[in-house]
Amino acid sequence: ATRPVILPSMLLCDFGNLEREVRAVEEAGARALHLDIMDGHFVPNITYGFTIIEAVRRVTELPLDVHLMITNPEKYIPQFVESGAGLISIHIEAVEDPRPLLEQIRSLGSAAGLVLNPPTPVSAVEPYLEACDYVLAMTVMPGYGGQKFDESVLSKVRELRAMLPPEVLVEVDGGVSAETIAACAEAGAEMFVTGSAIFRTPDYAASLVELQRLAQV
Ligand code: DX5
Ligand code: ZN
Repeated sequence: ATRPVILPSMLLCDFGNLEREVRAVEEAGARALHLDIMDGHFVPNITYGFTIIEAVRRVTELPLDVHLMITNPEKYIPQFVESGAGLISIHIEAVEDPRPLLEQIRSLGSAAGLVLNPPTPVSAVEPYLEACDYVLAMTVMPGYGGQKFDESVLSKVRELRAMLPPEVLVEVDGGVSAETIAACAEAGAEMFVTGSAIFRTPDYAASLVELQRLAQV
């Protein structure tokens, strides 16, 4: 089995001390960071854009996994790549045809991910899987950190893992914690986004090590 990758979601970090927060999770052993881009349109919440990605890029060399919860992602792909996004994921619910976008992400040198919300069936992404470097199964409806994990998504994780080649990783995002991460790993997930399970705990390193341990299958 591959070593599980825990991706701290910076959504819940202290943005007044962004550099310190990035360094803290990096020193705690994070091997990639997850950045949530919300536009107040595809999802009800608004977060941040290029400026913050660039700021994170300047203080770490860790891969940045940029999760686009925006309508019209096609307008912005080159700028996200230029900002330092090594991985970019787009929602199947946000586009008519994800294929040209996934191809564009790859051609610009980043890894391409496709995301599906809890109510969206695997059949919706199936035609595009060969254009994906990873697939993100949301385990909450996107928009906010700190929501409750949706267990019904685990069967979709299992389904995706069974249909994808081994080099295409399955990622989970939303409510992933010490209570839920083992079930995700058991279902076949290899990338685990964790917001509150890191940033709402007093000791990031201890939390990360524990999550890593629980995700080992
Ligand atoms: C939710 C975001 C997540 C969120 C995860 O819309 O996509 O990345 O920050 O936070 P937790 O782990 O607290 O659910
Ligand atoms: Zn996310």
